[in-house]
Amino acid sequence: MAALITFLLVTLSTSALGQVPEGCIDPPGNNGVADIIVQALEAARPLLVSGIPELSIPPLDPFGPLPKIPFSVDTSGLWLEGMVNDTYVRNMAQFVTCSVNLTFGLAQKFDIEFRLQNFHIDGFYDVDGLALSLFPIFGNGGFRIDTYDSGFTGGAKISYNPITDHAALKDLSLDIFFATMELEMECILGCGDMSDIINGAASEIAPFMFNAIWDYISPILSTFLQDGINDILKNISISDIVTPVERRALELGNANEYLDLVMANLGPMMEAGGLDPAPLPAANLDLGTVVADLYDGQLTGLSTIHRDGTCTLDRVADWLFLYANVAVENLGVHQMGRVTSGDTTVEVEVDTTISSVALYFVARGDVYSLEADIDQFIISEFGKIDVRIDGLGSLDYIMSPLAEAVANLVRDNVSRLLETKVKQAIQDALNETPWSMFDD
Ligand SMILES: *[C@@H]1O[C@H](CO)[C@@H](O)[C@H](O)[C@H]1NC(C)=O
Ligand SMILES: *[C@@H]1O[C@H](CO)[C@@H](O)[C@H](O)[C@H]1NC(C)=O
Ligand SMILES: *[C@@H]1O[C@H](CO)[C@@H](O)[C@H](O)[C@H]1NC(C)=O
Ligand SMILES: *[C@@H]1O[C@H](CO)[C@@H](O)[C@H](O)[C@H]1NC(C)=O
Repeated sequence: MAALITFLLVTLSTSALGQVPEGCIDPPGNNGVADIIVQALEAARPLLVSGIPELSIPPLDPFGPLPKIPFSVDTSGLWLEGMVNDTYVRNMAQFVTCSVNLTFGLAQKFDIEFRLQNFHIDGFYDVDGLALSLFPIFGNGGFRIDTYDSGFTGGAKISYNPITDHAALKDLSLDIFFATMELEMECILGCGDMSDIINGAASEIAPFMFNAIWDYISPILSTFLQDGINDILKNISISDIVTPVERRALELGNANEYLDLVMANLGPMMEAGGLDPAPLPAANLDLGTVVADLYDGQLTGLSTIHRDGTCTLDRVADWLFLYANVAVENLGVHQMGRVTSGDTTVEVEVDTTISSVALYFVARGDVYSLEADIDQFIISEFGKIDVRIDGLGSLDYIMSPLAEAVANLVRDNVSRLLETKVKQAIQDALNETPWSMFDD
């Protein structure tokens, strides 16, 4: 005899055959790329039966036999260890594509929903345990699980490469839903007839058994779907299909990862290239009755420059444009000096700090050579400058005007350094970081 348990989990409206299931969208795709995915999934339906050997994808309908899958149940009423083996999952090829959404913009994502009237699993089970800590529950034999008004939802990230003009999905994960589930287990309790206990136990066992099987198959299904869709996307030039507005949105934010890589390369390049620490020119400051000579100037901290905000990439014909904001904080300048007034000369030490400097630049690269040129380079913010002068002694009265003169000098000399050597270093770092690296 068999225990047949039916229980209702969620009630979804049933769909009539041949019609668009309720809650589904007709046509399912929300834009041109999604439409192509829908068509290709339809074309791939026979592949669920045959599999795709080139991509190491096994047939998925039927999908099996699955290896032994263990599961355990531990609830207030029931404790048991079990396993299923020789399991087959059936009916996958009867999917209906319900909706496919590609969302562009800063939160690029892919969402898909399939419906499947009857998701069927069968195989052999073996369980051993206790009900209410008292009655032994054991048995083995055939089992089947059917879910009705079922479906799958999937979500993934989209990565888009403006150079190749191709998109790909990554991190696709699937969830299953259904309105009702039936579990039938043959011969539990050695084919005895304690049907009340059987009924109680089977409804408790079902979700654990189902989840164990789902956990095994869902990554395989996700991989199948993701690889299959990426194989389709590989052939699609995105700009041919989406509107220019959608394409711009797809590219937005895309260069953050790339610029982070450039900045990571730039730091060590600056240290090796004599920009951190960087020498500052000697200077002579004439304050009327007082003259200050500054020398041995050194600027430290430039190598900690980093991306500051969203970096975007745009493509116009054969040109790529990178729009970037970068910043560096806590720059320090150390200088030695000699301050003279009449017969008095004192040796001073000058320490200047710059709270932050922000830069904006636009780099242009042609898509063939991928060589970058910086077109625009702007110091968008020069932060607070603090000057400390030690050693003025009797010339202390000159502190304030001298500090102001040093601040102006440092701002001018550091700005000049940024606009020349630092700009060149950024351009070199762009060229040493291949522009195609933001592919994945
Ligand atoms: C799977 O279960 C069947 C039936 O219980 C049994 O005959 C078979 O030996 C099992 N296979 C494995 C690998 O456990
Ligand atoms: C796709 O978008 C439509 C409209 O916003 C929505 O009703 C549907 O649930 C979405 N599909 C998925 C799978 O997220
Ligand atoms: C992609 O294009 C190649 C060559 O044009 C073709 O052989 C292949 O079937 C296409 N793949 C898909 C999924 O359309
Ligand atoms: C440093 O700044 C001073 C003061 O503005 C300026 O006269 C001098 O040309 C600058 N030197 C360099 C190398 O930029």
